[in-house]
Amino acid sequence: MSANVYVTRLIPQSGLDLLTGAGLNVEVNPDDRVLTRGELLAAVRGRDGVLCLLTDTIDDAVMEAAGPQCKGFANYAVGYNNIDVAAATRRGLPVSNTPGVLTDTTAELAWALLFAAARRIVESDYFLRDGHWEAWGPMQFLGSDLKGATLGIVGAGRIGQAMALKSVGFEMNVLYTDAVARPEFEKALGARRVDLDALLRESDYISLHVALSPETTHLIGARELALMKETAILINTSRGPVIDEAALVEALCARTIGGAALDVYEREPILAGGLTDMPNAVLVPHIGSATRRTRGAMAEMAARNLLAMLRGERAPNCVNPEVYG
Ligand code: DGY
Repeated sequence: MSANVYVTRLIPQSGLDLLTGAGLNVEVNPDDRVLTRGELLAAVRGRDGVLCLLTDTIDDAVMEAAGPQCKGFANYAVGYNNIDVAAATRRGLPVSNTPGVLTDTTAELAWALLFAAARRIVESDYFLRDGHWEAWGPMQFLGSDLKGATLGIVGAGRIGQAMALKSVGFEMNVLYTDAVARPEFEKALGARRVDLDALLRESDYISLHVALSPETTHLIGARELALMKETAILINTSRGPVIDEAALVEALCARTIGGAALDVYEREPILAGGLTDMPNAVLVPHIGSATRRTRGAMAEMAARNLLAMLRGERAPNCVNPEVYG
């Protein structure tokens, strides 16, 4: 197949091999960094397809810059809030994502964050490295137990359910919110569907797993944080803007909640003022899907989607199938 595609940042080789193996002319951003807006607009010009990342804003202007020969945008992420899908649909351009392959990896990171916050791992690690540890102490770094605690899952889709399923060994009670009831999930775990306010009031650990949309932006703000238990821990591996980060800093500072453990931020890579000063926050840089196996699988999935678009076939993970009529 002779086509000209652009990959906006270096991805695992197995994905690139699929593209070059199909005979495509593949150009990859040579610098391991996010393209500036100007660079992105220039880089997509004249391409038959683009493999893009969640850090690239793919709006109508980018699609226009790509040109009428462009056959679609394959996003290297399950979330695709960085793409104006409505604009793509108007232009008849398919957009794809990478669902499924990162479900467990992201759920595992949510657990890593939960443990780190519950047992104050990061705080105590700093304490030790900084040379403050003089002796074992009965009151040092007291954390929270998991056994018998209540886990609140906000959004019981693929990742939310995977996280909840892993709670079985810890004998936790599971609550969840979702737009629809999930009877099989309820049966498997004895999970109970409640409204968000009830979940916030009753849970010891609250893990967010909703897609970003106008409805979920600032789903957790000052009012919602005020409903949480003083000891409760908020975990976010979904998208940063789901939490009003300034309100979260206030709650952490006033200690009206127990803590937060975050993988995602409202204005990545910028964090709300004061967040990094909070000892009761565990902060990692959007690494939910960052394992070698999963990032490789994401690269291959994005490449397969792009190849299908270029062949004029239905992309297996198309998020706007209406473009196929
Ligand atoms: C996604 O895929 O949406 C994650 O945020 C990054 O892997």
